Amino acid sequence: MFRIAVLPGDGIGREIVPEAVGVLQKIDKKYGLGLEFQYGLISEDAYAKYGHPLPQETIDLCKQSQAVLLGAVGSPQMDALPAELRPERAALLPIRKILGLFANLRLVTAYEPLLHASTLKPEVISGIDILVVRELTGGLYFGEKRREGAGPEERAVDTLVYTRAEIERILRFAFAAAHKRRKHLTSVDKANVLTSSQLWREVAMEVAKDYPDVELHHMYVDNCAMQLVRNPKLFDVIVTENMFGDILTDQASMLSGSLGMLPSASLGGEVALYEPAHGSAPDIAGQNKANPLATILSAALLLRYSLHHEAAAKDVEAAVVAVLNEGLRTPDIMEAGCTPVGTTEMGEAVRRRI
Ligand code: IPM
Ligand code: MG
Repeated sequence: MFRIAVLPGDGIGREIVPEAVGVLQKIDKKYGLGLEFQYGLISEDAYAKYGHPLPQETIDLCKQSQAVLLGAVGSPQMDALPAELRPERAALLPIRKILGLFANLRLVTAYEPLLHASTLKPEVISGIDILVVRELTGGLYFGEKRREGAGPEERAVDTLVYTRAEIERILRFAFAAAHKRRKHLTSVDKANVLTSSQLWREVAMEVAKDYPDVELHHMYVDNCAMQLVRNPKLFDVIVTENMFGDILTDQASMLSGSLGMLPSASLGGEVALYEPAHGSAPDIAGQNKANPLATILSAALLLRYSLHHEAAAKDVEAAVVAVLNEGLRTPDIMEAGCTPVGTTEMGEAVRRRI
């Protein structure tokens, strides 16, 4: 038996997660994996029931499971709450931290049938296969925050802290990943300005000695943002700190055609967490418009990294490609000549091909 905690969360999370669970159930039938799904509340629904967006019940459920499948958090109603209760800060970041998920893998793939759905030229993105390893439990997101004073002198402070150990473990993770791929690692920092980046760069050079077959390049984050749209074929594995990784992966998602195509896996602890890289999209929630493929592809990563079942993972990924080849498109990737479908039709189409 393999227990999966399912946390649909807010907005489109409630629509895309059932599609991914349906895909996993189909896979389970085919491969006999013994998957068991247990549902938990996070963000809006959790706040309504328990008065907190991340109740202890949900934390316990995640810890007692072998993997977590998360939809998205973030809702306009919750935005009115004090900062410490907003779901991004009070639920998403803490669950990542509590589970020890310091390594966030975001896979940017240019799907041939979607080459024209991207805003970038097909020849620029064709063949792209980039793994971004984002540090997920340190940096600005978790440093001390404070507000002080009033009037023009009022100050708001966020602190960017990284320890050598935190940098070293994410770099080792990224080097190991690059070693298994095309052996090219770009470490992204802002070492010309930030002291945390200077330490980052020093540690990168030290760790590099243990991976002589991996070619290491350092790149400033502003240059990386530019190269991602100028010549993304430069990249194999990118490793970077939390905030830079957040920004660069939204940008990089457009190489796949849409943010709705970008899956992620958060690893490093005993229980891994899988979630699409996009948010809860309240503007289209409840309308059967959301693209479930990022979540379905995140479920494929669950099969790969938590169940170590490569065949099942590949099966899901191939089903997604088959559906795209058939011309089925949710609104975010729609093009002339293709067949528009909703969230549920897209999920169903993927399941049919498994
Ligand atoms: C992401 C999201 C989150 C982040 C938000 C919702 C806090 O943008 O997973 O990329 O910044 O990590
Ligand atoms: Mg983000």
